[in-house]
Amino acid sequence: IKIKIKDREGVVHELDAPTDMAMNIMELCKAYELPVEGTCGGMAMCASCQCYVLSEHQLPEMGPDEEAMLFEAFHVKDNSRLGCQLPITEDLDGLELELAPES
Ligand code: FES
Repeated sequence: IKIKIKDREGVVHELDAPTDMAMNIMELCKAYELPVEGTCGGMAMCASCQCYVLSEHQLPEMGPDEEAMLFEAFHVKDNSRLGCQLPITEDLDGLELELAPES
């Protein structure tokens, strides 16, 4: 599937995302060397993978850990999600995201 990610300089990257590798959006960004730290290793505990959802995709519900992290994090908007909590599935084809500023 294809996922578009706008980096912090405003450059849009169209990434090929595999649905069969149990990868999430944070890992995808790192694989393509986008500036996403993923400091906590995908445990919903650092918010370095925060992104804004620009397209109208139906995404999985937030779990309590993600909700709690986004309550505390900086630069949170209504469309914020943690990339590490979004597994890459067929449903995400055409998804458009923007990386949140580093906090
Ligand atoms: Fe730390 Fe996503 S990688 S919250």
